[in-house]
Amino acid sequence: MSDTLATAVPKLSEVEHVKIASRYLRGTLIESLANRLTGALNPDDTHLIKFHGSYQQTDRDLDSERKRQKLEPLFSFMIRVRVPGGVASAPQWQRMDALSDAYGNGTMKLTTRQTFQLHGVLKRNLPAAIQGFNEVQMDSIAGCGDVNRNVMCNTNPHESPVHGEVVRIAQAISAHLTPRTTAYREIWLDGDLVETTEAVDDEPIYGHTYLPRKFKIALALPPYNDSDIFSNDIGLIAIEENGELLGFNVAVGGGLGMTFGLNETYPRLADLIGFVPADKVIDVCEKVVTIQRDWGNRENRKLSRLKYTIDRVGLPAFVAELHQRLGYELAPTRAYQFHSSSDAFGWTQSPSGLSQLVLFVEGGRVLDRPGYRLKSALREISGFHTGEFRLTGNQNLILANIEPQHVARIQTILEEAGAAPKADQLTALRRGALACVALNTCSQAFAEAERYLPHLLDKLDAVIRAHGLAETGILIRMTGCPNGCARPYLGEIGLVGKAPGRYNLYLGADHVGERLNKLYREMLDEDGILRELSPLLAAYAADRQPDEAFGDFVVRTGVVKATTQGLDFHS
Ligand code: HEM
Ligand code: SF4
Repeated sequence: MSDTLATAVPKLSEVEHVKIASRYLRGTLIESLANRLTGALNPDDTHLIKFHGSYQQTDRDLDSERKRQKLEPLFSFMIRVRVPGGVASAPQWQRMDALSDAYGNGTMKLTTRQTFQLHGVLKRNLPAAIQGFNEVQMDSIAGCGDVNRNVMCNTNPHESPVHGEVVRIAQAISAHLTPRTTAYREIWLDGDLVETTEAVDDEPIYGHTYLPRKFKIALALPPYNDSDIFSNDIGLIAIEENGELLGFNVAVGGGLGMTFGLNETYPRLADLIGFVPADKVIDVCEKVVTIQRDWGNRENRKLSRLKYTIDRVGLPAFVAELHQRLGYELAPTRAYQFHSSSDAFGWTQSPSGLSQLVLFVEGGRVLDRPGYRLKSALREISGFHTGEFRLTGNQNLILANIEPQHVARIQTILEEAGAAPKADQLTALRRGALACVALNTCSQAFAEAERYLPHLLDKLDAVIRAHGLAETGILIRMTGCPNGCARPYLGEIGLVGKAPGRYNLYLGADHVGERLNKLYREMLDEDGILRELSPLLAAYAADRQPDEAFGDFVVRTGVVKATTQGLDFHS
């Protein structure tokens, strides 16, 4: 065979073969679950279970000790429950709380994509946990895997009719792009793990091999970019005029993951390609998904996100194909402006007289520990609160639509539980910080993130306060590896784990999620991080221009070059 011919035949990645053989995501999951000799799944099923919303993990704190004792690792599962638009009811909150105690590690993680994650679920408890979500109309299908994931939208549906419509559209996009296979129902919900449901083997949008890689969609209503829309495969910016939702600006090709040492991988922000009326936005999402289904790279998973497809074919060719599949052209992008990508903490009252409380949740972890009983407090509140529990994309929680007679009671419960920190107890740096899970559960982690960032912040807070910056919002984000689950490349200070206790430091993202940062220093330990950041924060306090954000300051003063697009992230 000639070299040309050999390279012309695509060599599908291992996961593609698993998908092909899976019969619409069934694989041998039923056998894997029934096998009591191991806490793990059959190897192929570890890929498939992601489409069902779960990752097989080990307790990495215990890995070496168990190896020494010649035991298999302590396998358990993370389950991610989709919450399109982040909106959960009180009964749903109560159920997640109860399931985290019954089957998880007693905590809930509110994630950077507005989902719930439970950790530490043993294989034998997976069906009961999933049945538990199902009873309160929640599911984990497409929580992970090569499909459209949880659709993000942090807009408060009760603020105005337009806000409500944006959230409804987010939920409709989610429903439209949910896999149709009945595998999820058969495996998890149909009683004795036998195939009792009539199988549906038709995926009109995805086809039987689904997408080449994960796919993410987020919506935002300016001036808030609190779902960081440009980090998504599709970002939608709602355009409102005179109290009416006109439609959405459409951005395509965002994604943050990269691999150290492989400069052909890079974070990339989505490009704006036009405007679509509200009644056509689902159609646009579907067609973008199908182009990625057909054109995405199925050989190398490191290069298979939509962002690489677009940079490979060029944006004009991508847009031309989209217009052809739509049968019409997008209109020119409308004017908009984002002012913030953070959550505004504290109490507000809506015109209806109902209140809402945006509550800071450190690292998104809902738990009880001495002096801080957030989980118990929220459980008590869920017993009488008639409004919603809304998860934000910044790992915080909004108690929404609080009735007037419950306001004081909720505040008292949180205060007595030590879970209602006053604004002046927390610097703005800490209030806006994000950290991914990392150790001890994430198999990808090179370093700590969620467990360590609060300690680093104790030290950084001292620097911040010394320079009078306690109330200055600076976005700091830490992850345990370069996959970027807590959006570190959109942090004005990004810290990405490279080895135990060592982080790469990235600087120079803007404050509203419209510019990526750039590598500043590598392999810093804690002393190194403080040594590098302290003089920069001092200079910022002394020399910043009015309203200048830290990320803009370090670019203006030449500390780092501005990253203008993903392809120049590494230069
Ligand atoms: C590119 C490769 C990626 C891989 C292999 C990956 C894998 C994982 C794994 C295994 C977890 C579970 C960790 C745990 O709960 O123990 C996780 C969590 C998560 N990932 Fe990723 N991820 C990737 C990129 C991303 C990106 C770019 C985003 C979005 C910006 C993202 C969003 C999330 C979110 C929201 C969580 C939940 C944890 C949190 O809020 O910190 N992931 N990821
Ligand atoms: S960024 Fe890396 S370490 Fe953190 S949760 Fe994602 S994959 Fe795991």
